[in-house]
Amino acid sequence: MSILRLTCSPRGVGSESHRLSQFVVEHLARHDPVRGRDIVEIDANLLPHVDVDYARALGSPADPGSDVCGRGSLRQSDQLIQSLSDADYVVIATPMHNYTVPSALKVWIDHVVRVRSTFSVTREGKVGVLADRPVFVAASSGGLFSGPDARQPDFLTPYLKVALATIGLKRLTFFSVEGTAMGGQALDAARLRAQEQIAGHFSQQ
Ligand SMILES: Cc1cc2nc3c(=O)[nH]c(=O)nc-3n(C[C@H](O)[C@H](O)[C@H](O)COP(=O)(O)O)c2cc1C
Repeated sequence: MSILRLTCSPRGVGSESHRLSQFVVEHLARHDPVRGRDIVEIDANLLPHVDVDYARALGSPADPGSDVCGRGSLRQSDQLIQSLSDADYVVIATPMHNYTVPSALKVWIDHVVRVRSTFSVTREGKVGVLADRPVFVAASSGGLFSGPDARQPDFLTPYLKVALATIGLKRLTFFSVEGTAMGGQALDAARLRAQEQIAGHFSQQ
């Protein structure tokens, strides 16, 4: 079994979202014993924005020659798509930034949602090429974005559903620790709720 974990918070492994994702990884490991080398870790904050060759290639009817494809963002994209294709499970640890995904996660999406590689354009629209597999999103937010007390929109959840469905990944499960800015007992309660949701999800598998 292999897990690809994407850590998207600028706070890295010390972040709330990474902490939450660890519960998902541990449950996956319990279900299907995992060896350390089978967890591929990507820090999305280390990914550079896509470059000019990549932008030209994606806006053209065909990819450029192998000399251009073998460098810069096109090469980086190949590697990221390969790590995604190889994974049995994908775990995305992400904070909410300005109602949606942080820019680091958007950069990863720009690298892996790639015409002629992970989706095709048909008369009916874009069709994903990757084999579907479970994707777990462990999200964290300073305020609430779900439930009756939410006072802000949530573009993170629908955006990730659409972006990943474009490449064929439709089996998304979302967990969240919301209201981290409240701290104290409210944060403890939010963490516990999320952990219970994760445990409940895996107990049904
Ligand atoms: C640039 C930026 C934008 C943010 N935007 C939001 C937001 O729109 N809604 C929200 O609830 N929290 C927002 N927050 C707060 C974070 O989501 C919150 O601190 C979260 O717990 C961080 O998770 P992490 O530790 O995984 O990075 C924002 C934080 C930053 C740094």
